Amino acid sequence: MARMIKKTERGRVYFIGAGPGDPDLLTVRGARILGEADRIVFAGSLVPEEALHELNDRGLWVDSAGLTREQIVNHLLEGVEKNEIVVRLASGDPSIFGAMAEMTTELDARKIPWEVVPGVSSVFAAAAALRMELTLPEVSQTVILTRTAGRTPMPPGEEIEGLAAHGATLVIFLSIDRIEELVAQLLTVRDPLTPAAVVARASWDNEVICRGTLSSIAGEVRKARIMRQALLILGEALDPELRKKARSRLYAADFTHGFREGSSSASSPP
Ligand SMILES: C[S@@+](CC[C@H](N)C(=O)[O-])C[C@H]1O[C@@H](n2cnc3c(N)ncnc32)[C@H](O)[C@@H]1O
Repeated sequence: MARMIKKTERGRVYFIGAGPGDPDLLTVRGARILGEADRIVFAGSLVPEEALHELNDRGLWVDSAGLTREQIVNHLLEGVEKNEIVVRLASGDPSIFGAMAEMTTELDARKIPWEVVPGVSSVFAAAAALRMELTLPEVSQTVILTRTAGRTPMPPGEEIEGLAAHGATLVIFLSIDRIEELVAQLLTVRDPLTPAAVVARASWDNEVICRGTLSSIAGEVRKARIMRQALLILGEALDPELRKKARSRLYAADFTHGFREGSSSASSPP
């Protein structure tokens, strides 16, 4: 039986992933709830507020860029007290560097209902811009999403050198302003010729892509004057030659699985 669309509830806070910037990359559910909301507290610098106004021009829009955590929570609480449909609009997906837990803890303490509507993270918009797969068979089957220490320190054991030593595809958020330092750390454990790319404002009209190797990428980023709203992707999965050779077992002609009988005479993938 088809699943019914859930009714949006008053007096509840919806943490919605706004996607990476292109308003078209908001989910259908996110757009519907946003359209119904009475109050939208949005993360200013990365949420395409103007375009999203088209979905809701009657609610109260509050830019949280200049607010403290307490002030943001107070806005959410005020909306709930007035029995409004309250939205916290985060960039990308709220579960990645979204500062959501520190708000939901406050809501839980007051027994206020809340739920999450996922969004398209910038990591996926960047991969799409690069027209790459983050995982390639027999090249990289693991993706590490991380950042470097800024004002938020890294927990012990999550130093960038240790993570990079895995050889997995590495996606580094929130660190482009420290690219030189980051590259120096990565070079202690990865080959200077490891393919690297930086995507700034992925999916925005003014998206910028820099491609290179670990040893050249900082220079490319400097030339393009990228200082923020960008992420670095590092790893062999970016190598166009390895990409051409990549073959999964799932679609190999001799591979049998629940939906298809493989033919024993078929040749294996190269
Ligand atoms: C606070 S984090 C939020 C990440 C977000 N929750 C997500 O899933 O994309 C902000 C960082 O995400 C990355 N970012 C967000 N939007 C981006 C975009 N459109 N293009 C490239 N990087 C982006 C940048 O590294 C930026 O410094």
